[in-house]
Amino acid sequence: MPGAVVEAWRPGAPQADHAVVWAPPQQFIDEQPALKGIFNIGAGVDGLMKLKLPRQALVVRIDDGGMAVQMAEFVCHAVIRHFRELDVYEAEIGQGQWSHRKPQRRSEFPVGVMGLGVLGERVARAVAQFEFPVRGWSRSPRQVPGVQCFAGPAQFDEFLAGTRVLVCLLPLTAETRDIMNARNLSRLLPGGYVINVARGAQLVDDDLIALLDSGHLAGAALDVFRTEPLPAEHPFWRHPKITITPHTSARTLRDETIAQIAGKIQALERGEPIAGVVDVERGY
Ligand SMILES: NC(=O)c1ccc[n+]([C@@H]2O[C@H](COP(=O)([O-])OP(=O)(O)OC[C@H]3O[C@@H](n4cnc5c(N)ncnc54)[C@H](OP(=O)(O)O)[C@@H]3O)[C@@H](O)[C@H]2O)c1
Repeated sequence: MPGAVVEAWRPGAPQADHAVVWAPPQQFIDEQPALKGIFNIGAGVDGLMKLKLPRQALVVRIDDGGMAVQMAEFVCHAVIRHFRELDVYEAEIGQGQWSHRKPQRRSEFPVGVMGLGVLGERVARAVAQFEFPVRGWSRSPRQVPGVQCFAGPAQFDEFLAGTRVLVCLLPLTAETRDIMNARNLSRLLPGGYVINVARGAQLVDDDLIALLDSGHLAGAALDVFRTEPLPAEHPFWRHPKITITPHTSARTLRDETIAQIAGKIQALERGEPIAGVVDVERGY
């Protein structure tokens, strides 16, 4: 961006036209009341929605920026690892054991993706490529080829009742906080599996553990947690049916992100519309 002055913020810094942020403190926002654009260097803006933001500022998320393909490969890997029992093979091979397990039926592993946005739609399409039955759930009605789509609270229970592998790709809002609770998780098909790659606060940790221990759920792959890093004493670290990863399913890619944000700032300065503007009222 020739001509632009780019500076790291410090208290008392001069006024900027645009800000590039991740989880800034309220002080930063309060000291920069004239911002035209606040560019979040991730897809999820829940960290920003907690703040009191200047009314005129556009809040802009990274849209795709190389994250969708990462999310698709991460979720496909988790689904396939569970369905093909690769975790079991890994453990057996580790003990020098050569044995075969009975093949499972793909038709008995319907995958349900909650959230059919930039990431969820890509994930649903990718999983469908492997011929799993795929269903999706969003706030407003959506159509995705190869995916049975459900929308809104009225169709949520029907969506859950036909889902065995539940993937969460919802933004964290007041409506989606704690959405993976005992009531909703117990509606999944028996032998359910939970893949949370959205936000930790959408899962009620104790409810998951209770359903794993009762046998209703077969396992979970969790990439995001209420507290990150996951505290050393948290039971998720050692639960035999839980696989954890350190919030790494879709990383913000530096070069793509810089190019996307620079392009959007230039478009805004030319008075052109941009993609990825967050609806602050809706919260995502
Ligand atoms: N683990 C990681 O590394 C990582 C990386 C990036 C992002 N994420 C998380 O992934 C989330 C999703 O990203 P995205 O880019 O796909 O978001 P997005 O494009 O904003 O899509 C959100 C989807 O969720 C649906 N939705 C929102 N509120 C809902 C509700 N109350 N009920 C039903 N559906 C609802 C939306 O429905 P409509 O289609 O009707 O709007 C939309 O389909 C982010 O918010 C972030 O938290 C995690």
